[in-house]
Amino acid sequence: MTFAPGKIILTGEHSVVYGKPAIALAINRGIETIATRFEGPSYCTSPIVDEHLWKAIRTIVPENGFTISFTSSLPIGKGMGSSAALSVSLCREMARIQSQSLSFEGLLDQAMTMETFFHGRPSGLDHTVSALGKAVLFQRTTTGTEWKPIDFPAIDILIVDSGTTGSTSDMVAKVALHADTAKFQSILVKMETLSMKIRKAIAMKDFKRIGQLCTQNHQYLKQLGVSTTTINDIVDSALALGAWGAKLSGSGGGGIVIILGDNLSLLKEYFVENGYDAFITRSFSPTD
Ligand code: MEV
Repeated sequence: MTFAPGKIILTGEHSVVYGKPAIALAINRGIETIATRFEGPSYCTSPIVDEHLWKAIRTIVPENGFTISFTSSLPIGKGMGSSAALSVSLCREMARIQSQSLSFEGLLDQAMTMETFFHGRPSGLDHTVSALGKAVLFQRTTTGTEWKPIDFPAIDILIVDSGTTGSTSDMVAKVALHADTAKFQSILVKMETLSMKIRKAIAMKDFKRIGQLCTQNHQYLKQLGVSTTTINDIVDSALALGAWGAKLSGSGGGGIVIILGDNLSLLKEYFVENGYDAFITRSFSPTD
């Protein structure tokens, strides 16, 4: 059995597709994969796997000889890196069961193949943070990607599910429609500056400031057109109830909101009472 974590993005979703820096955290929820040997055509036992997903899985799993099953502690398709965690755990599990050695770079390459199948034009952020299992500063370059692990402690983060799902490829395509405009370019520059401020606040361990900057990031994501009314309501309610900060995380168009603060249990109760799925997750620290 092999586990790979999901992720939340503190800053840089969408702008990362255009070469700007992003910061993501690995979390203590993810996907477990179990592969077993089997005489016959390979198949998957998990209901989360539809035809499209199976085609992506088959880029890694041979036509014959294996059963594959997945268990997820992540909401699927909600911006928490479920496809990346599935890709990373599957690649590791297939290497394990076939007694193949898999370098870290090899793992990133295989997971990128699967993620490209899922999302069309992924930046690589999601599977890199999942493979690393810790916080990362990530940037796409003209020749590939650059990333570096960041020292980020284990902290609680409240997740509230907006109740709808956004498609990463659709949202990336939606943003691309405006990529040539001056407004878009100016938002990109602001997002880049913001990512650097968040990087500094992380170094200072100033979580209140990180929260405030996350809220600012949410405003930029709103301007990019990837938020929804429900997501904005969740963000506003969290702030009104004293959260340090809140933002959508992932591609948007639905999915989850991440909330930072020191009264997360109370906030969680509020959202659950108001009919939302909400749970507290924890970032992985380098010492976990
Ligand atoms: C999705 O988790 C993050 C996006 O920036 C897409 C990507 O990085 O590939 C929206």
